[in-house]
Amino acid sequence: MARALFDPERGYYTRHIQTVGARGDFSTSATLSPSLGAAIAAWIKAESRIQPRLRHVIEIGAGDGSLMHSVRKALGWWTRRRFTFHIVETSPVLREQQQKRLGSQVHWHTDIESALAQAQGHAFIYHNELLDAFPATLVQWSAAEQRWFEVWVPESLHPHEIDAAHYSVLRHTAFKDGQRCEMHPSIRDWLRNWTPQWKGGAMLSIDYGDEFPQLYHRRPHGTLRAYLLHQRLTGADIYANPGRQDITADINFTDYAAWLREFGATQITCHTLADLLRPHGAPPQLLDAEGAGSAFKCLVHRPQACA
Ligand SMILES: C[S@@+](CC[C@H](N)C(=O)[O-])C[C@H]1O[C@@H](n2cnc3c(N)ncnc32)[C@H](O)[C@@H]1O
Repeated sequence: MARALFDPERGYYTRHIQTVGARGDFSTSATLSPSLGAAIAAWIKAESRIQPRLRHVIEIGAGDGSLMHSVRKALGWWTRRRFTFHIVETSPVLREQQQKRLGSQVHWHTDIESALAQAQGHAFIYHNELLDAFPATLVQWSAAEQRWFEVWVPESLHPHEIDAAHYSVLRHTAFKDGQRCEMHPSIRDWLRNWTPQWKGGAMLSIDYGDEFPQLYHRRPHGTLRAYLLHQRLTGADIYANPGRQDITADINFTDYAAWLREFGATQITCHTLADLLRPHGAPPQLLDAEGAGSAFKCLVHRPQACA
């Protein structure tokens, strides 16, 4: 998955993604409506009442730039002037699109460490549908052997060597035979690398997923899937066009929250996206109980010193 998405020569995000949104392979809540930008701007304003001296805003994984555009617009001229805006983006194709849209209003970085260094460690950070693009490790429960196996490509089962202490899936033994789940050591490694540099501010993490184990309720095949031209692909089709299609998995927020706690951050709130968007004129498909707004979670964390 890491190579299919991020290989420098042939990865989907590095080379082949055209754009995010109606003309791309998938849409996000950010490309569907400016209400997410308005909600994030309101969050930044509320956080800056608590930490009024903060001067940096960082978006990680900015897609076509529409979210940063709507956040800046909704902040308004007066508040916008107080902040320096940064985007952390690994895709050269998307960075070019963002630069066309946002011009000199934003500083670009290829990793969060560089953005945090410019902000002297103090920043309001947000990301939408970033975590679901991180490479996942697929595992399968064997009821006969009462243990988890890692699923390799092409499909075959292998004993895993992952430390169960950090992954709720590996400590769970109550699934039916053959249950598949995803884990994200890639996200834990990423957090472990940059959180020591984060000294002040707050982070809003928005993504699809749920607490474990309800994330896998009625999902015996797990959540791993691919998208090509707005078509959802599962099973063997996930591996059919490496580098040509997006591959994604839901986020296990039980683990995500535990890792941030482990690395010293404090969780302040956890809402659904519908809760976040309701006051900001979101379209019905983002608010209804069965829709995206309920499937997405929004977590706010602060580094320990600011909690
Ligand atoms: C699914 S898109 C979401 C785009 C945008 N946030 C939105 O809501 O429309 C994922 C974005 O994260 C970027 N990305 C993936 N991994 C990243 C990483 N490790 N650091 C920074 N950006 C990353 C991708 O290039 C892309 O811009």
